[in-house]
Amino acid sequence: MKKKGFTKVLKNFTSETSIFVIMNLSIFKTNCINSIQTQVTWQAPSNIALIKYWGKHGEQLPKNPSLSFTLSSCISTTALDINPISKGTNISFDFYFEGQSKPEFHSKIEVFFKRILPYCPWIANHHITINSQNSFPHSSGIASSGSSMAALASCLVAAEELFDDHADQKASFLARLGSGSAARSINGPITVWGATESVKESSDFFAVPLSESDYHPIFNTYCDAILIIDQGQKKVSSTQGHRLMENHPFGVARFKQAFQNMVNLIKILEEGDLDAFISIVETEALTLHAMMMTGSPNYILMHPNTMEVIQSVWNFRQETKLPVCFTLDAGANVHLLYPQKDAFQIEDWIDHKLKAFCREGKIIKDKVGRGAKKV
Ligand code: PMV
Repeated sequence: MKKKGFTKVLKNFTSETSIFVIMNLSIFKTNCINSIQTQVTWQAPSNIALIKYWGKHGEQLPKNPSLSFTLSSCISTTALDINPISKGTNISFDFYFEGQSKPEFHSKIEVFFKRILPYCPWIANHHITINSQNSFPHSSGIASSGSSMAALASCLVAAEELFDDHADQKASFLARLGSGSAARSINGPITVWGATESVKESSDFFAVPLSESDYHPIFNTYCDAILIIDQGQKKVSSTQGHRLMENHPFGVARFKQAFQNMVNLIKILEEGDLDAFISIVETEALTLHAMMMTGSPNYILMHPNTMEVIQSVWNFRQETKLPVCFTLDAGANVHLLYPQKDAFQIEDWIDHKLKAFCREGKIIKDKVGRGAKKV
C-alpha cells in the first residue's frame, strides 16, 4: 500500500480533455543519505521552447505541456563543495558567480533549497558552496535560470550518487522546482515537460527526452541563431507573467491551444514536415507575446527591432523558400531556427541583413545539444 501523502493526483483540464497523472513522488526522496563530503561539477545548457510554458499552478506545475530544443553552447557550469555540519534549522550555503559573492541571488537559491528539502533532506545538515559561471554574457538578455538551475540540480543528484534510471528524472524534477523551464535542460536534443497524450511517460513533474526514433533526423541538425536585440532587465519577470495567466481572459483558450499544438507538433516532428513545423513554432511565439499584451495589467516585451526581424524572416522565406523560422522567449531577443543543410545561405543573410537590428551587432550561433553533463 502506498504511504499516505506520497502520491499526488494531478489534473490538467482543458475544455475537451482531462489528463490524470498519478505520480509516486517517493521515488525522488533520498531519506537514507546522512552524510556527504564531495566536490561535483556539472554543466547544463539553456533550452528554447517551441511549445511555450506560460502559466503554472501548485508547486511549479505547468498549465500545459511544453517542448523545447536543448542548446549546446549557451551553458552554465556549476561546482559544488559539500561538507557535513551539525544539524541546523537553516539552509547553509555560499554562492559565487564568476568568482564573486552574489548576495542578490541568495533568496532565489534559498527558496529553491527549501522546496527541494523534502526530496533531499540531507541538505539540512550540510554546508554547500556553489560556484557558477555562464558561457554567455551576463547582460545578453538570455535567461540563465534554465541552465543554472539544471546545472545545480545535476550536481545535487550526482552528489547523491544515484545511478539508476531515476537520476535524470530526479535532476529534472529538482530543476523544475528552481525554474520551470530548467526541467527541460537535463536531456536533449528535444524534451517534453508536462503530461500529454502524445508522449508516453510524459509528466508534469519532470521532463522526458523524445526518443530519436520518434522524430525526423533533420531536427538533430537544427541551428539556433540568437539575435540579441535588447540586453536590458525585463520590465515584467517570468514569475509575474505566469501569475497573470491565472485570471487571463484568454487563458482557457490558450491552454487548450497549447495541448493541441503539442499533439500536432509531435506528429510533425515525426514526419519532418518543415512548413507545418514553422507554422506552429511561430504561432506559439506570437501567442506567448499576445498573452502578455492582453493580460491585466498588459505589457509588451518586444522591441521595434524584434518586429523588423520578424518581417524580414517572412520576406526572406517568401523569396527563398528556405525553412528558417523565428521564436521568442519572454523578452525582445529573436531565436532563428533552421536546419544545418541550409545554414550557409541563411547565416549569410543573418550576418548581412539582420546584424543591424542587434545590440552592438551581437548574435550567438548555437545548435541543438544533448543536455547536462559531468565536467
Ligand atoms: O522557467 P520560467 O519560469 O522562467 O518560464 C519560462 C517561460 C518561457 O521561457 C517564456 C517559455 C518556456 O517554455 O521556456
